Amino acid sequence: MEKYVIRGGKQLHGEIEVSGAKNAAVAIIPAALMVDGVCRLENIPQISDADMLMTILEHLGAKVRAVNSNTVDIDCTNVRYTDAPYDLMRKIRASYYLIGAMLGRFGAAKTTMPGGCNLGARPIDQHIKGMNALGADVEVAGGFVYANTPDGKLHGARIYLDKVSVGATMNIILAASMARGRTVIENAAKEPHIVDLANFLNSMGADVRGAGTDSVKVNGVERLHGGSYTIIPDQIEAGTYMVACAAAGGEIRIKNVIPRHLESISAKLREMGVTIIEGEDSVVVKSSGKLHRVNVKTMPYPGFPTDMQPQVATALCLAGGTSVITEGIYDNRFKYTNELRKMGAQIQVDGRTAVIEGVDRLTGAPVAACDLRAGAAMVIAGLCAEGTTYVEDIHYIERGYENFVGKLRSLGADIALVSEPDEPGSIKSASAG
Ligand code: UD1
Repeated sequence: MEKYVIRGGKQLHGEIEVSGAKNAAVAIIPAALMVDGVCRLENIPQISDADMLMTILEHLGAKVRAVNSNTVDIDCTNVRYTDAPYDLMRKIRASYYLIGAMLGRFGAAKTTMPGGCNLGARPIDQHIKGMNALGADVEVAGGFVYANTPDGKLHGARIYLDKVSVGATMNIILAASMARGRTVIENAAKEPHIVDLANFLNSMGADVRGAGTDSVKVNGVERLHGGSYTIIPDQIEAGTYMVACAAAGGEIRIKNVIPRHLESISAKLREMGVTIIEGEDSVVVKSSGKLHRVNVKTMPYPGFPTDMQPQVATALCLAGGTSVITEGIYDNRFKYTNELRKMGAQIQVDGRTAVIEGVDRLTGAPVAACDLRAGAAMVIAGLCAEGTTYVEDIHYIERGYENFVGKLRSLGADIALVSEPDEPGSIKSASAG
């Protein structure tokens, strides 16, 4: 079993570079399936979710060649329609993008129901509604999603999403980019990775307009051609280091970011008393470690991201006064607060609201990462705590943070990855994406 061992109490100083955006990469890698030719992807983060998707493409017949640690060539020219491997698919949420990509290319798809961090019910009804509107019959049975088109092609349609959904917006863009005719998605999500997917598809010959607004128009094309594309920096990875520095204190420069994508996070940290200086493609974070209380409500972009909620809640455990966090996206995203309480945090949770009474100190303890972002929050807690924190179930963290330990160590954190033999009879939980 691997775990992180963190000796808290060190301020963070220095510079780090943010990797490519996980949530863009996990859509763009499946999108490569639609491309006739070689697709060079740069700034791919070295994380297990991206690796798993590339392995799935290889199972489907793609040629995947690493050019260097963050660049791959993917050639799906000779991929034929076939089932995707169940065991890999069920581990990651983003496997749902294979539905849109396979439907777009082959007019048919069979995938598993997506896995993913357990943050409450995560239905895919809006994805299915979109595929239905494009003319696909979709059936969910026995843990699989079966999608078929009567004439082997999707047909453009007008789709009004009942809920602002990142995944449904991106999946419909994927499918529609090779449908016959024009698709309009209303009430679309506006996250930066949606714009990145559209830019990727357009650079391969698609015609997607309006991504980043709530109305996206897609004119279907016959064929996508090969090319080269660089994935945007990861907003949530950058935000995680910003909050880590805010909570632990210190001064860091985070490079390879798009400051505009970080605005809601920067604004909240400024309210907490942290200095944020934006450069062209970097941010400097300066913090004494003494934070003011604030209220936070998570919302779709450009609101405060739900994927930053556990990290900022952890910082607020050490702020002066009472903070209220309202989770606006998921039903069940406060499970990690049980772990923070083991470290001395004072948090009351009622449904989608958490009330945090700031305390003077957290104390190190053995804690578990209950999902990806909760895991990052446990690390932040450990960096600030007195004594030693042991973070278990770190496979969740490695789904989404490239070289987390190395980057934190380069900022002066006392964190190490240690491996211990599994206890006899222990069941190592499967990674969920
Ligand atoms: C994506 C991100 C995830 C982030 C989330 C919200 C990826 C791989 N994951 O997840 O990190 O937390 O956006 O920013 O990009 N919903 C439905 N029906 C649907 C789809 C969604 O009811 O068909 C609900 C969900 O349960 C959730 C809300 O809508 O309550 C938003 O979900 P969505 O934006 O779709 O999130 P994901 O794409 O799964």
